[in-house]
Amino acid sequence: MKTLIKLISVLFVTGFLLSSCEGPMGPAGTAGVDGKDANATCTQCHNSAGVDSVKAQFAYAKHAYGAANFEEAGNTGCSPCHESEAFKNVVENNVSTVFTIVPPATTYSNPYAASSSSAYGPITCNTCHTHLHSTFTFADFMPLTTTAPVPMTYFGGAKTIDLTQDDSKSNLCAKCHQPRPLTNSNTDKNVLNYAGLVSNPTAVFYDAAQSNSLNVLKPSYRTSTHNGTVAAIFAGIGGVEFGTGYSNSQHTTVASCQECHMAPMTGKAGGHTFNAQGNFNGCNVAGCHAANPISSSTTTTYWKQTRDGVKAQLDQLAAKLQEEGVDILGRNGDATANLWAGLTTNNYDGNMNIYDPVNNPAGPTYNTTLFQNPSTSGFTADQITFNSTLPKLTLTNAQMGAIINFQLCLRDFSLGIHNKAYTTTLLANSIAVLN
Ligand code: HEC
Ligand code: HEC
Ligand code: HEC
Ligand code: HEC
Ligand code: HEC
Repeated sequence: MKTLIKLISVLFVTGFLLSSCEGPMGPAGTAGVDGKDANATCTQCHNSAGVDSVKAQFAYAKHAYGAANFEEAGNTGCSPCHESEAFKNVVENNVSTVFTIVPPATTYSNPYAASSSSAYGPITCNTCHTHLHSTFTFADFMPLTTTAPVPMTYFGGAKTIDLTQDDSKSNLCAKCHQPRPLTNSNTDKNVLNYAGLVSNPTAVFYDAAQSNSLNVLKPSYRTSTHNGTVAAIFAGIGGVEFGTGYSNSQHTTVASCQECHMAPMTGKAGGHTFNAQGNFNGCNVAGCHAANPISSSTTTTYWKQTRDGVKAQLDQLAAKLQEEGVDILGRNGDATANLWAGLTTNNYDGNMNIYDPVNNPAGPTYNTTLFQNPSTSGFTADQITFNSTLPKLTLTNAQMGAIINFQLCLRDFSLGIHNKAYTTTLLANSIAVLN
């Protein structure tokens, strides 16, 4: 009702403006129209088959119902992907992802952040359709807020995702659905040298017994690529590439995120739900899989075998990532807390199996033994005592690289559907380097 009243009053005001303005103030194509015609331009979008039905779909999108935007509001580093105004702010200002030293600091910092006055706002229509209500015609839906190539924050800008198929619309999604950088927390605070893990796999990456200057990164429960790794795996850019044999599946160059995630609706998936679960309409189109249609029950290599295979590889890699029987990666069987519950047999969530009663209170529930936390800030005296009884974690470069690859592939969520060739090689080579 409130919206209706607002709509009516905006109709009135806009009608007035449009009927009274002439020349440069009037938007192209509508200048000089009277109030009635201005209303008609509104109905190009405001009708039941237009904005109304898209809004009905959008209600099922986690973009709309997810709560992360409430938690991250005000945080300039998190907001470029979680807050609407912040996303538009980093796009508009083309904010760099290249780590820099800003004097008087002597160590690097990550510039990829929104301005503090724009770090708010849930994801809405206007986040992706930034020109809405500019000419007041249907054409305002396009162009999208951005379709420019995406210099990856994970690489401090050294590598770029550019998915040019389907008018580069996937780049819109990739701008947010990309991993975040791991940084050298102990030394210069620059981006971790991922390639260095490959060139020297047996070197010690972390050992509490050696000096901090040798430990470039102090592992914590949250040492990870963050949650949205899809675009990196999809583009085949971002893995710690041990060994050889890397290639991409056809999807990387022929399919767009929209074609699978915004296909015609089935149930509560498709369209502006952005959800692909259980919706095969995008797969089974001419030129793609129409001849051999895909469904969730199919046993062809395309769905079940791909996913079973990648799940088995993730299980195998996790089993290699143990020290004296203790998992390096944490398990969490709570499907509300672990977005990736069920994707591996042991319900790994991609975080480290490090004791952290502050950020990981459920750790002891799902893991028999945890590793000692090198940092005890915020712990009670009892927790510090308990922490000291736990085994200490040591990591080689090979283990660190394999952990990153596990996180990238687990959190890609599709179990190989996005980019089977790249995913299976990355996991196979990670298993091999730990042998
Ligand atoms: C390009 C398509 C398009 C056109 C043309 C258009 N709108 Fe909208 N309008 C939208 C969308 C999309 C929304 C957001 C819907 C939502 O999230 O509730 C919206 C929302 C609104 C709202 C609700 C704002 C709020 O805060 O709840 C009003 C009022 C409105 N439009 C008025 C108008 C009027 C008046 C016109 C014509 C002068 C017009 N619109 C033309 C797409 C359009
Ligand atoms: C402004 C950044 C941004 C853009 C642009 C964006 N997303 Fe998202 N997306 C997010 C965030 C953040 C979440 C998680 C929201 C939450 O949990 O509160 C999300 C959630 C999702 C989910 C649900 C994931 C789950 O765990 O259930 C899907 C699917 C998705 N996005 C697909 C897409 C596709 C496809 C596009 C491009 C058309 C896209 N997104 C564009 C930020 C974005
Ligand atoms: C480069 C973009 C990006 C940045 C920066 C970013 N996130 Fe996210 N985040 C995402 C995406 C995309 C998802 C959704 C992943 C999915 O469900 O597939 C997500 C998911 C989450 C979730 C899980 C939400 C849920 O549905 O359970 C939390 C919590 C979260 N982010 C917190 C943060 C915090 C805190 C920061 C800053 C320290 C941050 N994010 C920075 C992209 C980002
Ligand atoms: C996460 C980004 C995102 C959000 C949020 C979003 N859209 Fe879209 N929208 C897109 C993309 C991408 C396309 C192009 C889809 C395609 O190519 O199939 C699109 C297309 C459309 C179209 C078709 C436009 C045309 O020219 O054919 C309409 C209408 C539309 N969106 C309405 C809305 C409305 C209404 C909302 C809010 C309820 C909304 N969108 C929210 C990304 C978004
Ligand atoms: C070839 C089809 C296809 C393409 C192209 C595609 N996806 Fe997916 N995506 C899927 C499937 C299938 C799943 C897993 C759905 C399931 O588990 O049933 C998925 C899962 C996801 C998820 C996790 C969703 C969830 O429900 O938790 C996100 C986020 C996502 N994709 C984003 C993207 C982005 C961003 C792009 C483009 C860079 C993209 N996808 C391209 C098919 C596709």
